[in-house]
Amino acid sequence: MHDLSHLIDKKLWLAPLAGYTDQGFRRTAKDWGVDVLVSEMVSADGLIRDSRKTIDYLLFTEAERPFGIQIFGSNALIMAQAAEFCLRFSPDFIDINMGCPVKKVVKRGAGSALMRNPEIASHIVKECKRALGDTIPLSVKFRSGWDNSSLNYLDFGVLMQDSGADFLCLHPRTQKQMFSGKSNWEHIKLLKQQLQIPLIGNGDIGTPELVMQMYKETACDSIMIGRGALGRPWIFEQTKELQAGNSYGSITIDQLKAAVLAHIDYALQHKPEHVVVREMRSQICHYTKGLNGGAELRRKVNQAKDSAELRQLIQEGITDYAICLS
Ligand SMILES: Cc1cc2nc3c(=O)[nH]c(=O)nc-3n(C[C@H](O)[C@H](O)[C@H](O)COP(=O)(O)O)c2cc1C
Repeated sequence: MHDLSHLIDKKLWLAPLAGYTDQGFRRTAKDWGVDVLVSEMVSADGLIRDSRKTIDYLLFTEAERPFGIQIFGSNALIMAQAAEFCLRFSPDFIDINMGCPVKKVVKRGAGSALMRNPEIASHIVKECKRALGDTIPLSVKFRSGWDNSSLNYLDFGVLMQDSGADFLCLHPRTQKQMFSGKSNWEHIKLLKQQLQIPLIGNGDIGTPELVMQMYKETACDSIMIGRGALGRPWIFEQTKELQAGNSYGSITIDQLKAAVLAHIDYALQHKPEHVVVREMRSQICHYTKGLNGGAELRRKVNQAKDSAELRQLIQEGITDYAICLS
């Protein structure tokens, strides 16, 4: 049995967000109090066939612990090999992606397509568990089902548990919903009642108050925040203030600038400058949402030639933060 307390004892997680939650963003979130971090999803086939291209996704710093690597794929033996390969990097857990709804992934039978093939999903968990042995815990992240007429999250969750998963995470939308509509927290509550292993709740947490509400409504063990943390990594610290019975303050202009600059600096420690300058565009888009003059700043950011120019734009361009960020 693994001690899971550092992962599931009312912890705040940053959701894996491909294209966003790289080391730069994860380290920024860590500065703002996030408890648990996960890699962006990594292709098991990529790791086994040509690991040079995918290996960067596995890298993390000690500061990011507890840290999990998320893998996706549809072949149990390749998934098991990939899980074993990941052990070389000493993550704190391995997560299997059975929730990704995007075409490129589901057409390969991976991600949420596995919810239509519970036998294969079960085989994957069993083989990965066998490969990991007693080393580190194994988790599965999945959705409510393929579509509204095939909501199988209860049976599926119990099957993942019985196949050997140590804990689970539910994002209660269907594959067909992608990211539209609302996540159905009732599914988290019902699944929690069925399970003997811990469950992490996820979906549409945009404020610290919603964290409290999800705990109350679902009795889940921990909570994972994705889009609500984009451009707002302070949501974790604010939530902890609220959980401690305190009120939390808004972010000041200086704090916002410092957060973006720290994010750029962290990113530069892990990626080449031209990649950082390109990738920070979408991150800064989130940071500057609701900012007076934000559109003009984003236009300039999109044309920045190097990180010095990017830093200068942030220093000088964020001057009037009239709309309060909570
Ligand atoms: C841009 C983007 C990328 C995502 N990438 C991943 C991923 O790599 N692995 C994964 O399990 N889920 C991924 N997700 C789903 C999120 O982890 C999360 O389950 C979903 O966004 C719902 O949580 P939220 O409402 O807090 O964002 C992604 C979502 C978005 C919007």
